Amino acid sequence: MKILVTGSNGQLGRELRDRLEASHPGITTYIDKDDLDLTRRDEVDAFLRQGEFSHVVNCAGYTAVDRAEEEKLLCAAVNTDAVTNIAHIADELGLRIIHISTDYVFDGRTYRPYSESDKVNPLSQYGTTKRKGETALLGLAPESIIIRTGWLYSPYGNNFVRTILRLASERPVLKIVADQIGTPTYAADLAQAIETILFAQQWVPGIVNYAGEGVASWYDFAVAILRLAGVNSCKVLPIPSEDYPTAAKRPHYSVLDKTRYKVTYGVDIPHWEESLARCIKRING
Ligand SMILES: NC(=O)c1ccc[n+]([C@@H]2O[C@H](COP(=O)([O-])OP(=O)(O)OC[C@H]3O[C@@H](n4cnc5c(N)ncnc54)[C@H](OP(=O)(O)O)[C@@H]3O)[C@@H](O)[C@H]2O)c1
Repeated sequence: MKILVTGSNGQLGRELRDRLEASHPGITTYIDKDDLDLTRRDEVDAFLRQGEFSHVVNCAGYTAVDRAEEEKLLCAAVNTDAVTNIAHIADELGLRIIHISTDYVFDGRTYRPYSESDKVNPLSQYGTTKRKGETALLGLAPESIIIRTGWLYSPYGNNFVRTILRLASERPVLKIVADQIGTPTYAADLAQAIETILFAQQWVPGIVNYAGEGVASWYDFAVAILRLAGVNSCKVLPIPSEDYPTAAKRPHYSVLDKTRYKVTYGVDIPHWEESLARCIKRING
């Protein structure tokens, strides 16, 4: 087994490196944009051909959801074209691909968790380009596995947990959206899920959902972050989405049904608050 992890300086990529180097050291190559720009087809081709990889885990992505409404071409290049670039020679090289997609492929006009086969209808450029990436991958390399996740955070990079901790140290009050419901997902848990999928007895192609257990609004998430971090100096107030206009539209509801993952691999998923406590412990050292 010879694994390639892309996007290895991102929050998920870094967690996956930590995980794989602890459990299966030395069999994985980690790259990011400075090593290989995945939007350059010829360079991707050459890199994959000489690398003799058995598996690619694509953690690279354009993840600035609001900026994507402006940077449409760049967002599409990374979230759709780069995926196509990896996928188009996967069959020829016998590559098994694990790709990460998003709950933002859904429009959120429902009140029950989304299964893998539910109808997609992305509301933003980010969601649209991620969906096109899924479609391209499943068309060109149908043996691939796509993991849909949402609300990712870790001690690394830009994410809600780090933003809330920073803002709470600067302000006495934070107003946080309370009518968008999803599930926070700890990138370290997702890295563990990727490891489970990579080393499972059977390879099960197609889409599989993975997120933390339970549900939360961004408001619930912010309250839990400050409680678990022991921050008492900042009050969190719930507000509706209309009071916090953003460039990109987001689904009001994007909870994912994880039954397929749990049944296929025979494992449980931690509740989001339990995972958040572990993450905050790491951040506080
Ligand atoms: N963050 C979330 O809440 C969330 C939710 C659902 C799904 N996901 C998906 O999960 C995956 C990992 O997310 P993440 O939060 O770990 O993302 P991240 O922290 O933004 O990391 C993404 C990485 O991809 C790299 N990258 C960007 N353009 C590239 C290119 N042209 N060639 C090669 N590498 C490139 C980035 O490099 P630079 O930083 O140098 O650009 C960065 O290191 C993504 O596919 C994302 O869409 C994320």
